[in-house]
Amino acid sequence: MIDATGRPQSVLVLGGASEIAQAIVAGLVPGRCRTVILAGRPSERLEAAAAAATAAGADVVETVAFDTTDLAGAPAAVTGAFERFGDIDLVLAAAGALGDQAELEADPLAAADLITTNFTGLAAALLATAASMRSQGHGRIVVISSVAGERARKANFVYGSTKSGLDAFSQGLGDSLVGTGVGVTIVRPGFVVGRMTEGMDLAPFSTTPEAVAGAVIKGIESGAEVVYAPPVLRWVFAVMRQLPRAVWRRMPG
Ligand SMILES: NC(=O)c1ccc[n+]([C@@H]2O[C@H](COP(=O)([O-])OP(=O)(O)OC[C@H]3O[C@@H](n4cnc5c(N)ncnc54)[C@H](OP(=O)(O)O)[C@@H]3O)[C@@H](O)[C@H]2O)c1
Repeated sequence: MIDATGRPQSVLVLGGASEIAQAIVAGLVPGRCRTVILAGRPSERLEAAAAAATAAGADVVETVAFDTTDLAGAPAAVTGAFERFGDIDLVLAAAGALGDQAELEADPLAAADLITTNFTGLAAALLATAASMRSQGHGRIVVISSVAGERARKANFVYGSTKSGLDAFSQGLGDSLVGTGVGVTIVRPGFVVGRMTEGMDLAPFSTTPEAVAGAVIKGIESGAEVVYAPPVLRWVFAVMRQLPRAVWRRMPG
């Protein structure tokens, strides 16, 4: 159960090898999170994430095969994890890919695959999560969206639109769960320095996985519905959303 200070004892990560998710897990385990289930595509990176959770002091650490492009398998993996581990306090949906906008525009199938990865498959997994959490009567679902979903930019509108969809879905999911004991926290990071953004020029208000993790853990503890990382982006994007289209479309890549 999530304790009085809002700290979960168990977490299921969808996208278990994500750098941001690993930083969140690293922050949760010393808090009193004893069980860490890392769902992801089998890889050395996923095993390394499991080893890091064990080294941080978690009692039970397991990996589960999970691929958001497997539309039947992704929700089944979530349901299977709840059946196997019983009570899960926190589900962290971190799976996602950025893609290359030019390549995606040239290859509609690749674009459809990214949309499935970031939105369709994850949405199916989140519905399975909500059903299991509704049955247990408590829990928190944290969904890593992005400020890229606040308003699609021509420089990355395929990725941005997947995050808009995921964000809208998660808002509706959260509203549908009010009164069930289950809450949804949507996280909107800006540019996070790491594997996903490797080789890219730093964007204004760039942050790190550790700083995002700090903001997310604070959000979990307070039951926040939306977390911006860094927090100033809430106000930056309140303005960005209002810019005229003619100005917005001149935003640099
Ligand atoms: N980095 C940023 O600047 C930034 C900013 C805003 C939002 N975000 C979002 O934050 C989340 C975590 O990103 P990150 O920065 O931690 O990047 P990351 O380390 O690359 O993590 C992304 C994770 O998603 C997993 N994934 C990709 N496709 C998948 C699929 N089909 N099925 C299951 N898992 C899949 C990857 O698995 P593999 O290890 O198997 O590749 C990887 O572990 C993502 O949703 C991302 O969109 C990131």
